[in-house]
Amino acid sequence: MRLKGKTALVTAAGQGIGHASVLALAAEGAQVWATDVNEKLLERYAGVANVTAVKLDVLDKAAIGALFAKLPALDVLFNCAGVVHNGTIEQASDDDLAFAFALNVRAQMWTIQAVLPGMLKAGRGSIINMASVCSSMKGLPNRFVYGTTKAAVLGLTKSVAADYVAKGIRCNAVCPGTVDTPSLGDRINANADPEEARKAFIARQPMGRLAQAEEIAPVVVFLASDESIFATGQFFTVDGGITI
Ligand SMILES: NC(=O)c1ccc[n+]([C@@H]2O[C@H](COP(=O)([O-])OP(=O)(O)OC[C@H]3O[C@@H](n4cnc5c(N)ncnc54)[C@H](O)[C@@H]3O)[C@@H](O)[C@H]2O)c1
Repeated sequence: MRLKGKTALVTAAGQGIGHASVLALAAEGAQVWATDVNEKLLERYAGVANVTAVKLDVLDKAAIGALFAKLPALDVLFNCAGVVHNGTIEQASDDDLAFAFALNVRAQMWTIQAVLPGMLKAGRGSIINMASVCSSMKGLPNRFVYGTTKAAVLGLTKSVAADYVAKGIRCNAVCPGTVDTPSLGDRINANADPEEARKAFIARQPMGRLAQAEEIAPVVVFLASDESIFATGQFFTVDGGITI
């Protein structure tokens, strides 16, 4: 029970990496608030020990403020929400970029602003931001908007880490490779030939397969726990070798 006595909140916990992370955090004894904009997806937490499901749209600043004001001080915040835009710079509109910045970057700013007062009062906290290897680490085809915004997440992470390092608050980022989640399935199925599209995603993974969300969650548990107490401002890459 590496997280006994700790409280955590996870955004975009309805499916994929967020969901796997909620289960892993709760299994280690944390009291977890699993949040998502999609209430239907949150029904899966009925009866799950240590987990309270709450609707939260991270594009809604007032809703973030209202929820965090109601909760006890949190030890851990996992900012998992994000959106993938498919296309090159020529195919990206101003609205595409603005929406991705709002969900992938600005939402993290808002939740961190909401969680900080409690963490500062307690003199401790671990903030974990979802980034990607597709960022300043690696350029991938048709990921202009996505890579641009996930690179911003890395900058945000370093900046928060620098400002709060002496106050007991850590801020790190997780950078997965390609993970077999519902939204990846949607991206694959949107292709004319989904089977070929899946093969192409697998081909860019040197391990010859996609990750499962349960293979990313242990890194989130590590960063939430005191085992990572000396780590801040770092990017934890779990990518099946994509950035070797
Ligand atoms: N799947 C991958 O290959 C991969 C790789 C690297 C990074 N990531 C990142 O991991 C994160 C999760 O992706 P995933 O593929 O595991 O999950 P997913 O994309 O399948 O699910 C995303 C979840 O986010 C929720 N969501 C969407 N808009 C929201 C909002 N405004 N407020 C709150 N919740 C909202 C959805 O309801 C859904 O439950 C994203 O930030 C993504 O960029 C994913």
